[in-house]
Amino acid sequence: MKVVFLSPHYPPEMQQYTRGLAEVGATVYGVGDTPVSSLPVSTKRYLSDYLQVPGILNETDLIPRVHAWLRGREVDRVLANWEVLVMTAAKLRERFGVPGMTVDQVRGFRDKQVMKERVVAAGLRAPRSYRVRTVAEAEAAAEEVGFPLILKPIAGAGSADTYRVDGPGDLEKVLGAMGHVREASCEEFIEGEEFTYDTLCVDGKPVYENVAQYLPPPLIARTREEINPIIITVRDLKQAKMQKGIELGHGVLDALKMGDGFTHMEWFHTPKGEAVFGEIGCRPGGAHLVDQMNYTSDIDLFREWARAVCWKSFEARAPRKYNAAIIFFRAKGQGRITRIEGLRSFLRDHGEHVAEEKLLPVGAHRRNWRQTLTSDGHIILRHPDWDRTRELAEQAAEQVRVFAGG
Ligand SMILES: Nc1ncnc2c1ncn2[C@@H]1O[C@H](COP(=O)(O)OP(=O)(O)OP(=O)(O)O)[C@@H](O)[C@H]1O
Ligand SMILES: [Mg+2]
Repeated sequence: MKVVFLSPHYPPEMQQYTRGLAEVGATVYGVGDTPVSSLPVSTKRYLSDYLQVPGILNETDLIPRVHAWLRGREVDRVLANWEVLVMTAAKLRERFGVPGMTVDQVRGFRDKQVMKERVVAAGLRAPRSYRVRTVAEAEAAAEEVGFPLILKPIAGAGSADTYRVDGPGDLEKVLGAMGHVREASCEEFIEGEEFTYDTLCVDGKPVYENVAQYLPPPLIARTREEINPIIITVRDLKQAKMQKGIELGHGVLDALKMGDGFTHMEWFHTPKGEAVFGEIGCRPGGAHLVDQMNYTSDIDLFREWARAVCWKSFEARAPRKYNAAIIFFRAKGQGRITRIEGLRSFLRDHGEHVAEEKLLPVGAHRRNWRQTLTSDGHIILRHPDWDRTRELAEQAAEQVRVFAGG
């Protein structure tokens, strides 16, 4: 099993997938833009070969380079788990005639308008939406959709340039701020709680599934710095509410013709009890969601992903033992972290439930909370009871305080 894996070390969790591939017996060829001498030793040992390219995101340059590099070698898979590379991987697969999801299949997971059209065509509930390229198109779409509405880039990530628009005056302001976005989606605003639906699939069928709740919804967490956002995996997937999201998810996987690998979907649960599609990617959720899923069941999904994509099998037993909560912290103040309060007492009182504590240390520079959900570090805790998990997570978010200055 010979696997080309794009960007085997970045973002950092890719190193875990590289390890997984090697552990299930694959020969791993890495492609990245970091010099081989700067790759972590712990990753290099799992790579049989490595091609350094000038820019990993420069697809037109990368494809012929990889082609030339692999000439005369057999390749069984071309894989990527980083959102911005899933289409590049599909194009390489098509070029080499390697099995896996096609460019057209991947388009359904990358283009938010195509995605929703395919989901709606399958009879599933998604926000009404229009693709808009100009101010006039956006205004016309707003007429159709009504207020409040959401304007966001067609190929967005990290809630960047995503706006809730409450009225015509707002629309003008937002359109001014979105001038640099080439194509946007103008859609009906869905009120409700927000959840993920995550899977690892073989031939489009989940061999593993997960639901997690965002507290609060990402758009709110991404616009208010004073919030320490929480995400909790839901241990009990049998609840009727979760089943609605899971059923929707199954429909979406079929509608988009998912192949092998991870998916990360977002959905809303409305006050009327309806599950509404948000978006989906054919890659794992970021911001440590895979770690949270691993803590939920005490499994290693990095390795199981590799097994699924290489050998179409899943060998872990995955009992749902815990709700696993991650709390992302945002420091008060700018610059470097100066002190952390409340951590010691939280750990003293609840340390038995804490699986991971990775706050930035004093002296470290703050991360940009708008650009990365991981902000200034996190705590992961877990507990078998949902209400208790949520209570502990909210307590940590309240009690542990990180300060920066200078
Ligand atoms: N139609 C909608 N109705 C209500 N809220 C929405 C809608 N579309 C987007 N949002 C809010 O904006 C957030 C970001 O939107 P979306 O997930 O589509 O973009 P994204 O940039 O790909 O996000 P990310 O990469 O953070 O998952 C959503 O999580 C949700 O909170
Ligand atoms: Mg999203």
